[in-house]
Amino acid sequence: MIGRLNHVAIVVPDLAKAAAVYRETLGAKVSAPQALPAHGVTVVFVELPNTKIELLEPLGASSPVKSFLERNPAGGMHHVCYEVDDIIAARDRMKAQGARVIGDGEPKIGAHDKPVLFLHPKDFCGTLVELEQA
Ligand code: CO
Repeated sequence: MIGRLNHVAIVVPDLAKAAAVYRETLGAKVSAPQALPAHGVTVVFVELPNTKIELLEPLGASSPVKSFLERNPAGGMHHVCYEVDDIIAARDRMKAQGARVIGDGEPKIGAHDKPVLFLHPKDFCGTLVELEQA
């Protein structure tokens, strides 16, 4: 069912520093920072030939990645995002398989203006999984 790897998201304590690591040390193409108040993050996209890396920094007091950074002060891998053709069919399949969809189970519009859902890490090998309708 899952398709391409859309992105890997890494939460960082200092977005400018992280962007510089990817741009200068690793020689990648890195976007300008984008504040996404509705998602509680500021994001930088690292464009790779076959996928993207998203570097996320908390934005605002109720940022969903704030507690992650408290547990991982140096930053760390936060989630992987797989593309699906139909987010509702994917959600129903996950539920039928006994996997937990985070939140109310209704897709939200994600950072790329496409519907997304998050799946519980305990059901997916200890990794938070995002599904995005491609
Ligand atoms: Co994501």
